Amino acid sequence: MALSARELTQNKSSSIIDFYKNVRARTMEIVAPLEIEDYVIQTAEFMSPPRWHIGHTSWFFETVLQAHKPGFRVYSDDFLFYFNSYYEGFGARIERPKRGTKSRPTVRETVAYRNHIDEEMLKFLDSRQDDDQVRSLVRLGLEHEMQHQELLVYDIKHLLCDQFDAPVKPMPTRTVKVEGMAEIEGGLFWLGFGPHEGESANKLAHSKEFAFDNEKPAHQVFLQDFAIDKALVTNGDYLEFIRDGGYENFRWWFSEGWEVVNRDHWRAPLYWESNEGGWMVREFSGLHPVTEKLQEPVSHVSYFEASAFAKWKGKRLPTEAEWEKAACYSEHTQDFPWGDERPDIAKANLFENSYWSVAPIGSFPEGSTPSGCHQMIGDVWEWTTSDYVPYPGFKSEFDEYNDKWFVNQKVLRGGSYATPQLHIRSTYRNFFHAHERWMTSGFRCAKDL
Ligand SMILES: [Fe+2]
Repeated sequence: MALSARELTQNKSSSIIDFYKNVRARTMEIVAPLEIEDYVIQTAEFMSPPRWHIGHTSWFFETVLQAHKPGFRVYSDDFLFYFNSYYEGFGARIERPKRGTKSRPTVRETVAYRNHIDEEMLKFLDSRQDDDQVRSLVRLGLEHEMQHQELLVYDIKHLLCDQFDAPVKPMPTRTVKVEGMAEIEGGLFWLGFGPHEGESANKLAHSKEFAFDNEKPAHQVFLQDFAIDKALVTNGDYLEFIRDGGYENFRWWFSEGWEVVNRDHWRAPLYWESNEGGWMVREFSGLHPVTEKLQEPVSHVSYFEASAFAKWKGKRLPTEAEWEKAACYSEHTQDFPWGDERPDIAKANLFENSYWSVAPIGSFPEGSTPSGCHQMIGDVWEWTTSDYVPYPGFKSEFDEYNDKWFVNQKVLRGGSYATPQLHIRSTYRNFFHAHERWMTSGFRCAKDL
């Protein structure tokens, strides 16, 4: 049974079981077009074989059962070793770059493990669904699984790209022209998730919904007046940077970025290929001349590349507070750029749209902000200049989940075409290292006023 977003996100005990079934089923829908050989290959150190994701997300729920179900017996010590990602607290584990070096557990064994954990979890949930602690742990496990659904899309793209038979739906054709920058007034701004002064009762009810600990607490920050691009930077914009010798000129790059450009011979975003006719972009839908994709947001760029482009353009990247204010504040705070309603396929390009691709600029006029910024939710995660550090007043709600990554990473905002609708929020803080670009990352620029 399909539940509405509102029903699923409310903390109703009756729906947690349906929520569990829905999320677990979608993971298997994503991998369904894979052939058995595809599940075990690791094409780069930063990606994981699909078999690992479907086992690891089950391992996560097995740790819940271990901690909360009296008499629960571990399925297999070998599986605990193979499917633990990075949790020191759960013992020894295989190193990430070696996840593709083993053919066992087999895919069949991994699916059997997954089914076993599901049976145990459903029995457990049936008996403990009124237990707040259990419900919030299971909710975390489902949010974790949705994160891995997005990672599966990145990893399958790296593994197979256009050889993967993705269930792609046609892109909408109606677009509106989007250009220029929105001017946003500065002053004190409540950044982050949770109750704060001046909120309506309706907003306070929303703040009881799920958010990660790293989005809390809401706190005031001071912003100068600033301007932010109404549109994401496009392939067309980025092609100008390349044609102007952007990748050959040290002056646009951070020192660390320039090192990577030279070490890895970067000349374009990941998935761009040069041939005699010019630059081509490889996507799930095939190999296309970039000249047919000029109006689409550039994606698979690192923080280094986004920053170099911004400097070349005479602009800069926004901070996460600037991004969040532009995305969900006009006269008062709202949950999303368009208002308080959760995303649907007319407002943002998220996983449920099934485009398996970015959408042209101006494809989602219903999702724009009152100030005219488009596609802030969906399409690409947007790089910000902000370091991924705890907000003032941060309290860790789960060991080793978010808090141990608070160093040397940058915050990205807004979700991508691979993010499930139920998973995204305007306050959501994603984070990656400055050189990473296998995820769906893009950007828009800002400038001082
Ligand atoms: Fe994980």
